[in-house]
Formats: sequence, C-alpha cells, structure tokens
Amino acid sequence: MERKYVAPPYRIKMVEPIRQISRAERVEALKNAGYNPFQLRSEDVFIDLLTDSGTGAMSHYQWGALMTGDESYAGSRSYYNLEKVVRDITGYNYVIPAHQGRGAEQVALPQLVDGREDMYFISNFHFDTTRAHVELAGARAIDCVIEECFDTENFHPFKGNFDIDKLEEIIKDKGSEKIAGIIMTITNNSAGGQPVSLENMRQTRAVADKYGITVLIDGARYAENAFFIKEREEGYQDKSIKEIAREQFDLADIFLMSSKKDGLVNIGGLIAIKDDKDLFIRCRSYIIPMEGFPTYGGLAGRDLEALAVGLEEALEFEYLQHRIDQIRYVGDRLREAGVPIQYPVGGHAVFVDCKKIAPHIPFDQFPAQSVCNAVYVESGVRPVEIGSFLLGRDPDTGANLESPMELMRLTIPRRTYTYAHLDVVCDAVIQVYKDRDSLIGLDFDFEPPVLRHFTASLKPIK
Ligand code: F0G
Repeated sequence: MERKYVAPPYRIKMVEPIRQISRAERVEALKNAGYNPFQLRSEDVFIDLLTDSGTGAMSHYQWGALMTGDESYAGSRSYYNLEKVVRDITGYNYVIPAHQGRGAEQVALPQLVDGREDMYFISNFHFDTTRAHVELAGARAIDCVIEECFDTENFHPFKGNFDIDKLEEIIKDKGSEKIAGIIMTITNNSAGGQPVSLENMRQTRAVADKYGITVLIDGARYAENAFFIKEREEGYQDKSIKEIAREQFDLADIFLMSSKKDGLVNIGGLIAIKDDKDLFIRCRSYIIPMEGFPTYGGLAGRDLEALAVGLEEALEFEYLQHRIDQIRYVGDRLREAGVPIQYPVGGHAVFVDCKKIAPHIPFDQFPAQSVCNAVYVESGVRPVEIGSFLLGRDPDTGANLESPMELMRLTIPRRTYTYAHLDVVCDAVIQVYKDRDSLIGLDFDFEPPVLRHFTASLKPIK
C-alpha cells in the first residue's frame, strides 16, 4: 500500500521526559523571558523547534562509537577514522575538525581574505555566523539568491539557487580580484532551507572558473540538499545520495560544515580542502590558537568518532526520506488550514510567512516574534523568529532594518520527535492563525548592542 507519509526507519530505545506546563505558567514564563523565546528555560518548553542544530538524536552505533574515542592530544586514532570518512564522502585531501560551523568559519575565511582590503564574499545567502566571520575577516558579504525565493506562495523546485546573471554582474562591478570566494550554502538556510540544484552549482562553478575565484560549500545540510536533487532534478533519480553528494563536492574547492546538522552529532564542525596544500597548511597553523591542535580541533576524541558514524548515517536514503517527510507533513497540514508558508517546504524547517498573518503589525514591532510568542503560549512549542528582530539596525543610521521576509521558523530536530508531537505543533500554529487578529506588536525593554535577538527583552505594545 502506498502511504502518504513515511514512518520513522528507527525505533525508540532511550527516552528523555518532557512536560507541558500549564497555560498560566507559560504566560508567566514568557513574561519572565522578556517575550523572547531564546530567554526561556528549556524545561518550560514542551516541543523545542528553535533549531535543528545539535538537537538531534544519535543512533546506538554513534553511542557505541563514543566509547572508542582516542583522547590523545595529537595524532588521535579517532581523527584518522574521521579523516577517512570525510575523504571518502568528499573526495577532498585535507581534513581539519572544528568545534562547530563557526569555528571552521573563523579559521578558514580569514585565510581567503589574507589581510587584503575591500574584499567580498558572494553567497546565495550567507548564514548569520558566516556573514559575521566574513565581516570579522575585514571583508563584506553579498547575497545573490534568485528572486523566486522571496515569493513564498509559488512552487519552485530550487528556491535556494544563485541568480547567475546577478552573480556575474557583481563580480564585474567589484572586480574579480576583489572576490575572496563564492560560498554555495546548501541547503540555503536563510531562504527557508531551500535546495540548490546541481545545474545551478555547475553554472556557479563555471562563472567562478571564468574569473579564477575560489568556491566554497557551506554544507551544514548538504545531504538534505542531495536528497532534493534526487527527488527533483532530472537525471538524478537513479543515483545514490552519496553519488549526488560527491557531485556537489566536485564543484567546490573548500567544504565548511556545521556537523551539528547533517553530521548527526550534538557538537562538531569540519574544514575540508580539495587540493590546495598551501591553504591547508595555513588553516592547520591558524586553528591551533583558535580551536585546538589540528587532529582534534576543539572536539573530544569521542566526538570525532560519533561524527565519523553520523556522516555516513545522514547519507542513508531511508533516513533522509523520513526526515524530509516530517517537514512536508507539517507543511501540508498548515497549508491545508490556510496558514501561509514558504512553499514548497525546505529541508529542515517550515517557515511561516508572518507578514501575511499579522499585516497589522509593522516590521519594527516584529510580527514574526509576536506569532512565535503566541505559539509558545498556546502549546509550549518554541519556534524562532527569522525577520526584522533578528536583522538588527543599520550601523550608520541606527534605524531598524526591514527584513524582506518576516518568518517564523519551525525547525525540526533530526530523529527526535514523532508525528504526534508534530500534530501538537500544527494544532497550535493553526489556532494562532485563527486568532491572528488579536496578535499585538512588541517594543524593546532592553536592547543589547549586537546580535540583539538572543538576549533582548521585549514588551507587548498595549
Ligand atoms: N552555516 C549554516 C548554513 C548554518 O545553518 C549554521 C548554523 C552555520 C553555518 C553555523 O554553524 O552553529 O555550528 O556554528 N545554523 C544554526 C541554525 C545555528 O539554527 O540554523 P554552527
């Protein structure tokens, strides 16, 4: 029998109790958290959809591998196990672990800028920490995603794609010698976990080659991207996820990874370099004061072992099929109820279009944050705002910046929640959608100078 949704290809053998506190307690907890879900205690959260980063469940193979970690400071056996797996998946020669994605960014990106002034990185979409490390390295970040990405209602199979014409225009405008690198973010997190096609990656590579520019993959969710290619791109239906992943890697020179996503671990990151030995040597020296000796890079030997196993598991078709199916389940239920979402859903989250839900709340009163808070009060589910609250202020004028999209991200951790949990999530969001006219805007009680969305306190505008 053909089933509409795919059941988990695993069963549960260890559980972590969670509890749903009462509505009155949730109202109080949110008030104490300054109307900012980042400030909630996790014990007051029933279903935590803040992020899919490091929040997944490891398999029993991974827990078993933890016991075999070699904790040697230098030359750990666990490092060589990990190196073997990463080489096998990517085809790249050089592998350096880091404590997480931003650790890899802080080591690799400055090497590409190399102290030069007026340098740029171009990406389909820089993730926040990637943008921050580009700027800390003294360069500037330019995003270059296709326009279809901003049209949340209409189907496009690869909304994460680069706008190839715009890419070439930017290179010509800035001068190719000023481009430190082109970063292919797969999947494109900020665009809604949207995939990038191999055809688009090939075109991006061709532009990079024409101008002699280095290409990086920010591949936190590279396996999910490969799954979408298998599903949607012509000619890939009979290829394995691993083969598709390899085609992705063949099109870049450097792979930076937050392994907390498609590495299926709670902490970890990677730098892999195809064949630039000089760059490898520089990263290897630089990582020592930043992250640690290059065979552990800020991780314990046991973490390296768990990652070596997790990287392989994340490429299994059955795992990915169920993973993406869970996201699709939430997306389908919300759409059936009329809730506006980024469509089609991407790989790790459902992004709800809050500009459409609360058009009566202006951008500088943070409509998506208001929706997130209402969902928490309704159910104890914790979503996260991706909109003007996160975007911050113009450094020159101090004015609130207006985000092109006001989104609530319902981020699904890997192998963690059941369809019953997802029903609670959908019921809550649908209820908030029905009551949308009662949503009210928010104003600052306390606003920190940088990365305000993590620690700010807000108050409802009465
Ligand atoms: N690149 C992408 C595409 C990411 O999504 C993230 C993290 C990073 C880099 C940085 O990795 O957190 O391990 O340092 N994304 C998380 C999220 C935090 O919630 O989307 P990290």
